[in-house]
Amino acid sequence: MKKYLNVFIVASILVSFEYYCLNFKPSLSILLFLQAKGYIQQTVKISADPGRVVSLWLGWIGLGAMIIMNVYSMRKRFAFMHGWGKLSNWLNFHVFCGLLGPMFILFHCNFKVHGLVAISFWSMVVSFSSGIIGRYFYVQLLKARVDLENEATQKLSRLDIAFQKNNIIVTDDEKRTYTNKALVFAGLPSEFENINPLTALASSMAGDFRRAFSQPDVPSAWPDISKYILSDYAVSQRRALLLESFQRLMGHWHTFHFPFAVFMYLVAIIHVATALILGI
Ligand code: HEM
Ligand code: HEM
Repeated sequence: MKKYLNVFIVASILVSFEYYCLNFKPSLSILLFLQAKGYIQQTVKISADPGRVVSLWLGWIGLGAMIIMNVYSMRKRFAFMHGWGKLSNWLNFHVFCGLLGPMFILFHCNFKVHGLVAISFWSMVVSFSSGIIGRYFYVQLLKARVDLENEATQKLSRLDIAFQKNNIIVTDDEKRTYTNKALVFAGLPSEFENINPLTALASSMAGDFRRAFSQPDVPSAWPDISKYILSDYAVSQRRALLLESFQRLMGHWHTFHFPFAVFMYLVAIIHVATALILGI
């Protein structure tokens, strides 16, 4: 995924820079420079306007990316494609195209959205945004509950090893108190049986946010590594205990996400067909 992200970042910077220049500072435009050097024919009118050559290239590449991203769904469903590499790699490819395609389309229309094609554009924005949320659900569901629980137990056993190495004696009660604190820190709500899935989501996200910037509290006598062990343990345990909530959320998410993707493609087909019929 890291390689895909790098390609996406480089492509975004290049396209943003070029569009900024075409709109506001033509003297710095790479394409106009290449044209001046004779690499692009003089008859080609280079501008940022929708419907011009640069915009059309971005339109085709953006739509192309959002069409080939569906190989993931095909790989998931069609038996004859089951030998075509790992499904998780295809999902990474789906995410890459799902980021790249909308970015190109945003420049394709040069930030102007009018007419019927606006339905396609805004459906694309919803698909893109809901894709990011869907990916969060997906990550919570990567492992089965029993595997997550085993993983959590294994991670917690590293705490006793750390205590032994540092010759610290900790009572079971004290350990339990800080383990529970770590679970709350990682976003496990105190009442998680039959919890509303949206509360589970908000609590998990808040926990992940906290984990990104700090570690759970431990007594000062405990070795520093115990914070990391507890944080690591708590996230596996939280995922195990909130798994059902996320399974329900993922089901609702699919129902919400799918129609927007369909609207986007249908209206894009009408838009492209109109452009081709009218001779672009
Ligand atoms: C998902 C794919 C696409 C989306 C969401 C999209 C969206 C848009 C938007 C919002 C505009 C600006 C309309 C305005 O200025 O009011 C536009 C313009 C245009 N697009 Fe696309 N586009 C897509 C793909 C394509 C492709 C593949 C082509 C290639 C034929 C294309 C051809 C054009 C043309 C010729 C214009 C300028 C004329 C017009 O306003 O209709 N688009 N597009
Ligand atoms: C315009 C952009 C996008 C469109 C049209 C789109 C479309 C779709 C569709 C149709 C599915 C259902 C696949 C299936 O069940 O077979 C899907 C699933 C998914 N998409 Fe996207 N997506 C877009 C962007 C994104 C982005 C940006 C991300 C992540 C950052 C993402 C992550 C996911 C995830 C995690 C799934 C669920 C996979 C699963 O349950 O198997 N998508 N997307």
